[in-house]
Amino acid sequence: MMSSQTWLPFFIFLILSNISSTFVTAQRYFCLGGNYTSNGTYNNNLNTIFSSLSSNMSYQGFHNASLGQIPDRVNVIALCRGDTQPDQCRSCIQDATHELVKLCPNQRQAILWQEFCTLRYSNNSSIFGDLADFTAPFLLNMYNATSPQQFNEGLRTLLDQLRAQAASGGSLMKVAAGNQTGPDFQTIYGLLQCSPDISQDNCSRCLISAAQRIPGCCADSIGARILQPSCTLRYETYPFYNLTRIREALATPFGSRPGIGPAPLPSGSSPPAARKHRLRLILLTGFGAVLIVITSIIILVMVIKRRKNIKNAYNHKNMEIFLKNHEEGHLGWEKLFEIAVGIARGLEYLHRGCNMRILHLDIKPHNILLDKNFHPKIADFGLAKLCPDTASIMSMTRARGTVGYIAPEVFCRNFGEVSHKSDVYSYGMMVLEIVGERRHIDTELGDSTNETYFPHWVYKHIEVNADEEDRDGVIEEDKKRKLTIVGLWCIQTDPKDRPSMRRVVEMLEGKLESLQIPPKPYLCSSTRLEVDVSTYESSI
Ligand SMILES: *[C@@H]1O[C@H](CO)[C@@H](O)[C@H](O)[C@H]1NC(C)=O
Ligand SMILES: *[C@@H]1O[C@H](CO)[C@@H](O)[C@H](O)[C@H]1NC(C)=O
Ligand SMILES: *[C@@H]1O[C@H](CO)[C@@H](O)[C@H](O)[C@H]1NC(C)=O
Ligand SMILES: *[C@@H]1O[C@H](CO)[C@@H](O)[C@H](O)[C@H]1NC(C)=O
Ligand SMILES: *[C@@H]1O[C@H](CO)[C@@H](O)[C@H](O)[C@H]1NC(C)=O
Ligand SMILES: *[C@@H]1O[C@H](CO)[C@@H](O)[C@H](O)[C@H]1NC(C)=O
Ligand SMILES: *[C@@H]1O[C@H](CO)[C@@H](O)[C@H](O)[C@H]1NC(C)=O
Ligand SMILES: *[C@@H]1O[C@H](CO)[C@@H](O)[C@H](O)[C@H]1NC(C)=O
Ligand SMILES: *[C@@H]1O[C@H](CO)[C@@H](O)[C@H](O)[C@H]1NC(C)=O
Ligand SMILES: *[C@@H]1O[C@H](CO)[C@@H](O)[C@H](O)[C@H]1NC(C)=O
Repeated sequence: MMSSQTWLPFFIFLILSNISSTFVTAQRYFCLGGNYTSNGTYNNNLNTIFSSLSSNMSYQGFHNASLGQIPDRVNVIALCRGDTQPDQCRSCIQDATHELVKLCPNQRQAILWQEFCTLRYSNNSSIFGDLADFTAPFLLNMYNATSPQQFNEGLRTLLDQLRAQAASGGSLMKVAAGNQTGPDFQTIYGLLQCSPDISQDNCSRCLISAAQRIPGCCADSIGARILQPSCTLRYETYPFYNLTRIREALATPFGSRPGIGPAPLPSGSSPPAARKHRLRLILLTGFGAVLIVITSIIILVMVIKRRKNIKNAYNHKNMEIFLKNHEEGHLGWEKLFEIAVGIARGLEYLHRGCNMRILHLDIKPHNILLDKNFHPKIADFGLAKLCPDTASIMSMTRARGTVGYIAPEVFCRNFGEVSHKSDVYSYGMMVLEIVGERRHIDTELGDSTNETYFPHWVYKHIEVNADEEDRDGVIEEDKKRKLTIVGLWCIQTDPKDRPSMRRVVEMLEGKLESLQIPPKPYLCSSTRLEVDVSTYESSI
């Protein structure tokens, strides 16, 4: 058995997910009073603006508008998060207009923060260029940093850097996103944004006041969103933004884009000023393209180098080694069970997403890291895929994953579509390994006869055990049995038969008696399972 000191360096690295990411949500809208009458002038003006607001959003995701005469003049500001695609931005604003009218009926002033946009209106025209920062909501990740002091230092550096960058953004878009290395090989990702109608100084001021709220609301937390009327601030330990889109939006001057904003100037007879603009545009675009290529190469080299280093330095510090050195009794089933539930929660969180599901597609013991408290972290998103919530089925042209953990549909389409259920399969295989049955069979049968499909072996085992239950009524035996049954459900050949990760968590946390023994998986029994796994990639 390893000493507890050996476990100390078990840390998180690469792009890591947080196992329990419960967000505390404060109220995300404010109705700021002053009734207007239904069907009155103010009401009509508001409806008129709202009806065409979403279609008028600039390419950078901003629009302001005013309509009517004082005292019924309506002023509106709509702003999308800097990395939203134009159509995503429009639909966010569209939803926000409907929602705000419902949330704040007959109110002359109101504000609503959505994940991807902020909508604000008032009868007071000074909302333009105004730096309103009344106590606004925040969202907070309940998971705490392991080394808070270093984490906060990294965070501060990141926020300072991004603030300067965002504030200097110009009148079309004030946004900045980036990352900073935190403690324990963790990376902190941040996105800061101001409404572009406020000045550089006021943007700075707004973001400073947002950052100052962190110790009060979200101290030590590894993720938070601070929402203010004129600016927002968010940080996480995973990349949550689309930097490509931000760069694209920033590199497009004049808020123009075919079909959006002012019409392009006719060619040939362009006045000198416009020609100069065009030249600048071409230069900027060219420069941007070169920059992107160079950055990509640097990133690629860094990623390859980093992965190599990490592989060398940490190969022996993951769950795989842990399983080889432990399984039975040393750590106790209580702890092993906790680890399995922790991994299930982490996967559930990845799959749930907000607008994007994340499919990991390479779940195996090697990619689960344990910290010194044996809290599991899911690591190595090298094969991960983002897929929009609406389309949870992936199209894949290459098989990927690791032999032994890879779901049948990933290497053969006949079994079904690749989806979040493919991760469920890998999870199931891993859980069965945690239960230790996989090694049993290896030792029992010896290497030469290692031809039995081990789920079949596990299955037989659990059928036998069902009869001799209640021997001691031990809790530990219950946990083991629960893990085994859930594991078997997860490795059903047809993805449709497998539970979702949410269901897996429910099953693990529910009563053993309520679990049914799953049907026997019907994969051919001569499938040889590699125990010393290696990454498997082949063209289909
Ligand atoms: C906005 O409406 C509120 C409440 O009706 C009123 O007190 C305030 O004077 C109005 N502001 C402007 C600029 O009309
Ligand atoms: C505004 O309207 C709400 C409900 O319609 C009502 O309860 C409230 O008293 C009104 N306030 C004013 C100042 O008229
Ligand atoms: C507002 O006008 C619509 C039709 O234009 C009418 O059906 C509705 O009853 C009116 N509401 C109020 C509160 O006057
Ligand atoms: C949107 O653009 C159209 C056409 O330019 C204009 O008539 C309308 O007033 C605009 N709406 C808003 C809310 O700015
Ligand atoms: C939008 O805001 C700017 C101030 O940033 C203001 O000058 C302009 O008039 C506003 N546009 C409309 C349509 O209200
Ligand atoms: C409009 O807003 C500004 C800034 O928030 C405030 O100073 C001013 O008193 C408001 N005007 C009215 C009439 O409410
Ligand atoms: C900055 O915000 C303050 C407070 O809202 C406002 O009075 C001032 O005009 C703003 N400055 C600029 C340059 O917009
Ligand atoms: C995080 O730390 C706060 C206090 O700093 C504590 O109240 C909270 O329970 C901790 N959360 C977790 C998940 O450990
Ligand atoms: C972190 O930021 C650097 C630039 O500061 C960038 O080159 C790198 O790609 C970023 N890493 C990730 C994972 O986004
Ligand atoms: C990120 O933005 C780029 C540029 O708009 C887009 O092509 C790409 O699909 C986006 N990625 C995601 C995951 O949305």
